[in-house]
Amino acid sequence: MKLLNYTGVLDFISKESIESLEAEATEALHKLLNKTGEGSEFTGWVDYPYNVDNDEMKRVIQVSERLREQSEVLLVIGVGGSYLGAQAALSILDVNPLKKKDKEVIFVGNTFSSDYTYNVYEYLKDKDFSINIISKSGTTTEPAVAFRIFKNLLKEKYGSKYNERIVATTTLNKGALYELAVTEGYEIFSIPEDIGGRYSVLTTVGLLPLAFRNIDIRAIIFGARAAYDNYTKSAYLENDALLYAAIRNLAYRAGKTVEILGLFEPRLHYLGEWYKQLFGESEGKDRKGLYPSFHTYTTDLHSLGQYVQDGERLFLETFIHVEKPANDMMIPREVDDFDGINYLTKFSLNEINKRAKMGTIKAHVSGEVPVLDITLPEMTPYYFGYLVYFMMLSCGVSGYLLGVNPFNQDGVEAYKNNMFAMLGRPGYEKYL
Ligand code: PA5
Repeated sequence: MKLLNYTGVLDFISKESIESLEAEATEALHKLLNKTGEGSEFTGWVDYPYNVDNDEMKRVIQVSERLREQSEVLLVIGVGGSYLGAQAALSILDVNPLKKKDKEVIFVGNTFSSDYTYNVYEYLKDKDFSINIISKSGTTTEPAVAFRIFKNLLKEKYGSKYNERIVATTTLNKGALYELAVTEGYEIFSIPEDIGGRYSVLTTVGLLPLAFRNIDIRAIIFGARAAYDNYTKSAYLENDALLYAAIRNLAYRAGKTVEILGLFEPRLHYLGEWYKQLFGESEGKDRKGLYPSFHTYTTDLHSLGQYVQDGERLFLETFIHVEKPANDMMIPREVDDFDGINYLTKFSLNEINKRAKMGTIKAHVSGEVPVLDITLPEMTPYYFGYLVYFMMLSCGVSGYLLGVNPFNQDGVEAYKNNMFAMLGRPGYEKYL
């Protein structure tokens, strides 16, 4: 399947320079496949689509069915890679977000905001709910704080049976969460030690919340397998994952410092959030890296579009458009044509959106913004799995091309150390 069209970069990045990265990009891919690159101890996600444990998948479905029987709401507690993949999938696969759901997933523990946490707390008081606490380390403060608060609410509502409503997804045999889960008797799912948070969407981290919403999690894995087959085997010039990684790096080497993911579908909003973490934590280190951001188009063409067209020339853009929406609409023709849009009535809304994308590519290219164009056939579980695997593999390759370790995130500790010192945590006085 062809995802990527890169003709919109060729005015700035020559075909020859793209071709010249073949050896480097292929070597980077081999480092991932052979586990010989930096951070290789966290590359378990590379082969994971084929290493999924079938019994564990069955247990995910069984547990999600039990949770569905006992709860209207699944409260997912986690931060960063422990929730963004599930949130991206839920919003992409929710054909009509305005429709009231009989089963809801709510995310907390990704902020210290008292207002947000209080509002969820109040909302849950008269709902039947269960908790999926997700933390690989089992010690991250935001989810730990939220877990205390909402576990207390479970105890108030369900007494000694509260533990039957908690599922812990964490590293087995270590960490505070694992110990607590064993002591208090929660259902436990494991996060493989060799898969870091932002690469964990295809594991139980991402899959249990999706199974709760009855999403076909096997189709997600089949999509990821198809992407694995395609991008680990195709030659460079036919390999969109390698080309995407190479072109990002060539743009960066040519002075572009910001990548904007231009999303032509509001349901892709949380994919943008997931992508920000994936590329931001993987590449933003050693004073290097394209800054990952996302815009929703055409919405943001009426706000940030001016800057992209005419402001500082910082950008590489990567557009994502969905070929076949779940639903499409025609515009009614009016006899008087007061608003002058009768000329649009021969197009469906999706066809207009597609032409808006084509017009934007032409405009931004003329404004010296190289544009990559990704077309996703449909927003289905299969293509979600395909797309996230494509992005994770590109990100790993791109990080190696950049010369960084894409699998650590030491920079995340700086704010934590200061915050702990300011909150009087013993041992952190030196950060005051
Ligand atoms: O990518 C990562 O590893 C991190 O961003 C984590 O996802 C995030 O910090 C949450 O960590 P944990 O799952 O250990 O609570």
